[in-house]
Amino acid sequence: MATNIPTARTAIILAAGKGMRMKSAMPKVMHAVAGKAMIDWSIDLALSVECDRTLVVCSPGQPDLKAHVEARLGPGTVALQERQLGTGDAVRAARQAFGSLSGTVVVLYGDTPLIRPESVRSLFEAVEADATLGVLGFEAAEPGGYGRLIMAGDASLSRIIEAKDATAEERAVTLCNSGVMAGRADKLFALLERVTNDNAKGEFYLTDIVGLAKSDGGTNQVVVCEEADVLGVNSRIQLAEANAAFQARKRSNIMASGVTLLAPETVFFSHDTEIGPDTIVEPNVVFGPGVKIDENVQIKAFSQLEGAHVSSGAVVGPYARLRPGSEIGPDVRIGNFVETKNVRLGQGAKINHLSYAGDGSVGAGANIGAGTIFCNYDGFEKHETHVGAGAFVGSNSALVAPVRVGDGAYIGSGSVITKDVSADALSVARARQIERAGWAVTYRSSMQAKKENTSGE
Ligand code: UD1
Ligand code: CA
Repeated sequence: MATNIPTARTAIILAAGKGMRMKSAMPKVMHAVAGKAMIDWSIDLALSVECDRTLVVCSPGQPDLKAHVEARLGPGTVALQERQLGTGDAVRAARQAFGSLSGTVVVLYGDTPLIRPESVRSLFEAVEADATLGVLGFEAAEPGGYGRLIMAGDASLSRIIEAKDATAEERAVTLCNSGVMAGRADKLFALLERVTNDNAKGEFYLTDIVGLAKSDGGTNQVVVCEEADVLGVNSRIQLAEANAAFQARKRSNIMASGVTLLAPETVFFSHDTEIGPDTIVEPNVVFGPGVKIDENVQIKAFSQLEGAHVSSGAVVGPYARLRPGSEIGPDVRIGNFVETKNVRLGQGAKINHLSYAGDGSVGAGANIGAGTIFCNYDGFEKHETHVGAGAFVGSNSALVAPVRVGDGAYIGSGSVITKDVSADALSVARARQIERAGWAVTYRSSMQAKKENTSGE
């Protein structure tokens, strides 16, 4: 009788490579795609396919990367590969560091961010059925430096040949290796022991275990996915290609979920952007990480949002900047050249022109006039400004925090408000206007006389 005990699943993420082609002081896998470091894409993928353990191989020269991984996965989840002798050597380093691993293992490369969970699940299923090794492959438009998948007559996978070691005929093969490979732990590690570095790069290739498995009489299976899902990032150009592939995927998903993008190719999303149906996004809008937009919102052209929540019925922009902690209530109006940060705006509040609202709150229905500034910083600390519901702040006012404006209060234009304002009061804090009748006539004639005297000299 077959038992139904689930097999333990382990993900080993390879991230120790030098990443020379990035020409960066930062480890390659710390570079971001759609606002998320590539290593986090891999870790999130492993977690999303129910891996019981996720382990990352780093090099000793990447202390920041190790700290980043341990902060996410806990202590004891990083293996150090002393020297970067190839992907096969990296998996061996994992085995040495973690001792015996049982169940199924999937190897993920830390420089391949856009792999879909269903692809990895299919590999696990292939191996948990009867494949010796499962490899995620794709049809490459330009196979370039990718390893080529050499198939046997029975549609199983014979071996993987690296581009640098391939013959012209093998290089013509367009079915390529994504770098994702799964196998039973005991089998995979036993095969790895037999890998040598007798090849063009003098490296221990993980990919060599495929040919070894086949010559032992095993059957390897290929799962095919879209090329855009498995773009490997080795250079800044490929980083840009991966970002572009993400944007294309995200734009389609967002539109499919009921959002209108007037010029999709000019709107840039983050990995985690959420937008509700019937929202309209105009051209040239950039979403940084942590943005959630509810349904029926309008985001007008040239706005930038980050760490913000916008509630339904709100209109934002054009040219608005919503920074982290902006909590925009229902039906709020945020107009051109308005910046918000760490501020809560109640239902129907309006800040329509040229203003900064940082650290505090604006009550429901309040109107913040053009050019109003929340002066939140005294050079050392940040302070809060709270404007009550229904209050009216006249244009060009400075609210010097900490300060509170009561519900329904009026602030005269051009005021510098340094003290709290009571509910329903009028507060004006500027020099009183004076008037001198006929002053301009006297002034002009005296100036004219002066000019005539000097020109006659
Ligand atoms: C690799 C595959 C190739 C595949 C391609 C997909 C091998 C030998 N080749 O080539 O078949 O088409 O990925 O993108 O596996 N790494 C280590 N330690 C090392 C070397 C590499 O941890 O000693 C890590 C790197 O950090 C990287 C990953 O392994 O995340 C892949 O290494 P990389 O050098 O980029 O391999 P490719 O040449 O791209
Ligand atoms: Ca690579």
